[in-house]
Amino acid sequence: MPAVSLDSVTKIYGEDTVALENVSVDIDDGEFVILLGPSGAGKSTLLRVLNGLTPPTEGTVEINGRPVGGDRGEVGMVFQEHYLIENMSAFRNALTGALARNGLVRSLLTLQNETDKRTALEALDTVGLLGEAHQRAGSMSGGQKQRVGIARALVQQPSLLLADEPVASLDPKAARDVMRYLRDAAAERNLTTVTSLHQVNIAREFGDRFLGIRDGEVIFDGGKDDLTMDAVDEIYYDDADAGEGDSTAMDVRRSDVAGPEEAGGNGQSESGIDHPTTEPGSGGEST
Ligand SMILES: Nc1ncnc2c1ncn2[C@@H]1O[C@H](COP(=O)(O)OP(=O)(O)O)[C@@H](O)[C@H]1O
Ligand SMILES: [Mg+2]
Repeated sequence: MPAVSLDSVTKIYGEDTVALENVSVDIDDGEFVILLGPSGAGKSTLLRVLNGLTPPTEGTVEINGRPVGGDRGEVGMVFQEHYLIENMSAFRNALTGALARNGLVRSLLTLQNETDKRTALEALDTVGLLGEAHQRAGSMSGGQKQRVGIARALVQQPSLLLADEPVASLDPKAARDVMRYLRDAAAERNLTTVTSLHQVNIAREFGDRFLGIRDGEVIFDGGKDDLTMDAVDEIYYDDADAGEGDSTAMDVRRSDVAGPEEAGGNGQSESGIDHPTTEPGSGGEST
């Protein structure tokens, strides 16, 4: 039985905004899946359908063979805007992940629950922040905050982990750090993970499987070797439109999507484009 099963899922917003069209995908236990696609393709909608927040207009979504939404703690989510409580420590923020699992009342009654505390510390350790457990979230760098967000989702002990553009607002180095922690955390726990990402080059480094979405349809489903430049072009650009431009225009648009470091291929070229984040404490980001 697949960990996640979408069967003929269509989502229409309002009268006629088709955000997902007849999407059928099975995801195995422990798979690390990256969603690729241009803005407006339907990536966030797919993630929202997977976490049960948005009911599909048609079709079914099952997690471990049961309709999504029955068990409120089973899907963990990491957001681009991390939604941390800035005045609380990294530890307290991570601990709030237990809320989704236990429910508010039980969480309040068991606020001192030693198991939850240990789980929170283990999760912070997983994302490399055990030493910063008592640091105020508001004083952390963007990358560190996102790692706290991952820790919080881990504390929830979900059976499916979702992340919507978790590194979109980070510089390339912090983005890679966060992706590495996300992937390793998932691998350590054999946690099925689906994350959207718009940096194709970073996606390539971390994904096992890629779903390319365009206009609400899954038009690509394959591994790293299948994700050729042609495949990327097909995911991001409508071929009919591409025909109107010359090759220079194509190249420019391709680099828009891939990010400036695409040409270099490895860390060598990055120093030129890495820039410090504007948030305090970003110096602590290096490992
Ligand atoms: N809450 C909503 N109400 C109406 N339309 C929406 C809503 N959310 C998304 N859409 C529309 O659905 C389509 C897919 O959006 P989205 O899933 O956010 O794409 P992506 O995350 O790939 O950028 C877009 O046309 C978008 O405008
Ligand atoms: Mg989105």
